[in-house]
Amino acid sequence: MEIKKAEFLTSSSKPEHCPDATRPEYAFIGRSNVGKSSLINMICNKSSLAKTSSTPGKTQLINHFNINDQWYLVDLPGYGYAKVSKTQIKEFKLLIDAYLRHRTNLMCLFILVDSRHKPQKSDLEFMHLMGTWGVPFVIVLTKLDKLKASEKENNVENYKKALLEEWEELPKIFITSAEKKEGKDEILSFIEEVNLQW
Ligand code: GTP
Ligand code: MG
Repeated sequence: MEIKKAEFLTSSSKPEHCPDATRPEYAFIGRSNVGKSSLINMICNKSSLAKTSSTPGKTQLINHFNINDQWYLVDLPGYGYAKVSKTQIKEFKLLIDAYLRHRTNLMCLFILVDSRHKPQKSDLEFMHLMGTWGVPFVIVLTKLDKLKASEKENNVENYKKALLEEWEELPKIFITSAEKKEGKDEILSFIEEVNLQW
């Protein structure tokens, strides 16, 4: 799929303020600083579409982007550690939970994890929760450019092993680097395919 149009639409502080659920949508979630906003920019080929920052906690609202006037990409605030207050972290969590549980047009959630680290307990718990809520998800390993060639395969395999301790079947896993613009075609082909179910 080619992205001909990618524009910021709206930021919502409450799920009910989100655009009408009349188009398929795909949301990006993961710990703060994992590279959600950077990946959205890479996929859309627009470096400043979603705001990025080296300080965790940059994205604080539910941000909708209109893609090709056909579907939405959604940039969510990071969960877990962020350079914001505990009260704000709780507020993000309530907002994200409400969005995830009630957004009827959410076709698939992209859960981003940093390829440099071992599977984090909080990420595995979050995936488990999505399983119980029935939210379809895929996994995106980010920042692959930060790994040495020899580490890449190892880290990916270790991630899969950890997932198989809980899941009978592996979810789809995308290997990406926003820096090196890797993983874009695979993600867009996947979205194109899922859009057909709309
Ligand atoms: P919050 O909105 O704060 O939750 O963060 P985020 O998950 O949206 O992360 P963001 O895209 O703002 O990126 C965080 C930092 O990681 C920035 O300094 C990015 O430049 C850097 N970064 C993101 N993706 C990559 C990548 O693929 N490779 C490298 N080397 N750096 C990356
Ligand atoms: Mg962000």
